[in-house]
Amino acid sequence: MNELQIAIDGPASAGKSTIAKILATDLKYVYVDTGAMYRAITFAVLTQNVNPKDEVAVSAMVPELEISFAPGNPVQKVFLNRQEITTEIRSVEVTANVSLISSYAVVRTAMTALQRKIAADGGVVMDGRDIGTTVLPAAQVKIFLIASVHERALRRYKENQAKGMPESLAEIEEAVQKRDHLDSTRQISPLKKAVDAIEVDTTGLSIPEVVHVIKEIIHQQQAVN
Ligand code: CDP
Ligand code: CDP
Repeated sequence: MNELQIAIDGPASAGKSTIAKILATDLKYVYVDTGAMYRAITFAVLTQNVNPKDEVAVSAMVPELEISFAPGNPVQKVFLNRQEITTEIRSVEVTANVSLISSYAVVRTAMTALQRKIAADGGVVMDGRDIGTTVLPAAQVKIFLIASVHERALRRYKENQAKGMPESLAEIEEAVQKRDHLDSTRQISPLKKAVDAIEVDTTGLSIPEVVHVIKEIIHQQQAVN
């Protein structure tokens, strides 16, 4: 049996990375967090004092940026030009600017090429916004994870509280909605359910319950591959 490409897309805080990591560990597949790549570029833009609105200047930076990952517990380590930026890419400032940066054509073309290269041999669980539609259109398993905006904001709020980040629930809910809007309305590879993706609504579901539902879907696909 060939190793599958598993694409997990959906809006912010739907549980994509949590679920993708568990699946990759259980299947002994590689996990790829494509959002971390866009966050890494955004971090570079902000720290090099480039105006995030200046598409030409941001685009000129892209060929100079080398993004890499290393296994880590509880989160995968992320490096930019070999410097670790795992924590920095989750800042409020990076989160507030990442949707703009990831709407730029040069940024998307470079990241899509990198993601396809990593996934070329299969055995990969990749999470993002455009994996099923653009990056891996032939993926054997495509999941579109959703949950109500309120539940997604609450999940992120609890996560941030645990990290000591001070944003209120209302601020997080607004930021999540704003990012979802930008991600779904941009011109290139917007956040969208692929026609052949299976939508899983995780509102009210625990992490093990979601993992169970998706494993059933994967087993069905493995049976036909
Ligand atoms: O984990 P969270 O939902 O906060 O977001 P993320 O997966 O880290 O992605 C951060 C941002 O990167 C998204 O809001 C999108 O703007 C962008 N992104 C994208 O455009 N395409 C992807 N395949 C993944 C992320
Ligand atoms: O990657 P994405 O932004 O889609 O979401 P995530 O970072 O995997 O999940 C956001 C938060 O929701 C994490 O703290 C998860 O533990 C939590 N979560 C949950 O409470 N219930 C689920 N069914 C899935 C995730």
